[in-house]
Amino acid sequence: MSEAEKYAVIGHPIAHSKSPVIHKVFAEQTGENVSYEAIDAAPEELHSAVTRFIALGGRGLNVTVPHKQAIIELMDTLTERAEIAGAVNTVIKLEDGSLCGDNTDGIGLLIDLQDNLGLDLENMRILVLGAGGAARGILATLAELRPEELVIANRTLDKALDIVDEFADIGRIKARSFEELAEADPEVIDLDVDDYIDDESDDESNGYDSDEDGDSGLEFDLVINATSAGLEGTVPPFPGCIIGPDTVCYDLSYSMRETPFITWAKAQGCAAAHQGWGMLIEQAAESFKLWRDIRPDTTEVRKQLPS
Ligand code: ATR
Repeated sequence: MSEAEKYAVIGHPIAHSKSPVIHKVFAEQTGENVSYEAIDAAPEELHSAVTRFIALGGRGLNVTVPHKQAIIELMDTLTERAEIAGAVNTVIKLEDGSLCGDNTDGIGLLIDLQDNLGLDLENMRILVLGAGGAARGILATLAELRPEELVIANRTLDKALDIVDEFADIGRIKARSFEELAEADPEVIDLDVDDYIDDESDDESNGYDSDEDGDSGLEFDLVINATSAGLEGTVPPFPGCIIGPDTVCYDLSYSMRETPFITWAKAQGCAAAHQGWGMLIEQAAESFKLWRDIRPDTTEVRKQLPS
């Protein structure tokens, strides 16, 4: 049998990554002759680690924390979605030897939310918490769907406003601080981002409306945690009013134990709370497809990891 073609995930730390396990299942299932290892590279080692891996015959990489932005300068080309996200999670070595950076995080989340969890995103009011790299990776994909409402809330409001500006051509997103969500009454929340910038509030067409039974409508249908606070074991002061009995909560983080956000969301009485295992698996399947031109069935591996 010919030598297996080499793939890897690169990050720091990387010891607990489940990507090697997931890709092993994919390789067995599809019969593709591939190997997949984990490469631990500190930020200052990223360049040399990538160069070495490719020189030794590496065909592709997954890229995880903290390298998703830094790896961009090592790419010869970027796909449009990687460019928009400003982050790369998949590297493909092309036929001519050049390196192409892509990003499958957004589509991975979308497949998990729509296909695995059966959510009808177009008709949902969606709140994304956080405005860092993880949020950027998913926001364009969500905005393209033109959901009923798409709001981004961040501790540092300016960062959320920057994203709203940058993604203005893709779809309408509104920015809020946590305090504004907490204090929001229908009048306040009717303001859109232009109102914050221009201090005018003549556009009432896209705001939140009170519904007929007097509910102020602050509860979202889907709340996605894209902050990194869980890594420190904490939950930022998100206002409980964003969660109602029908709200589905999703944490982009995942852990073998319940993440702090999931614990918090359940305590607020949400309808369901999911860690980002499904997104991890689906983004991996999309990467595998980019490399091997065959998409693994993710059912099996989803059964093997927590949900
Ligand atoms: P990542 O790539 O994981 O998104 P990042 O780019 O450093 O990491 O972004 C971290 C995000 O988590 C930011 O939105 C950050 O809020 P700020 O922009 O205000 O810094 C958010 N975050 C991290 N720790 C937080 C905390 N303790 N409370 C609130 N937000 C937090």
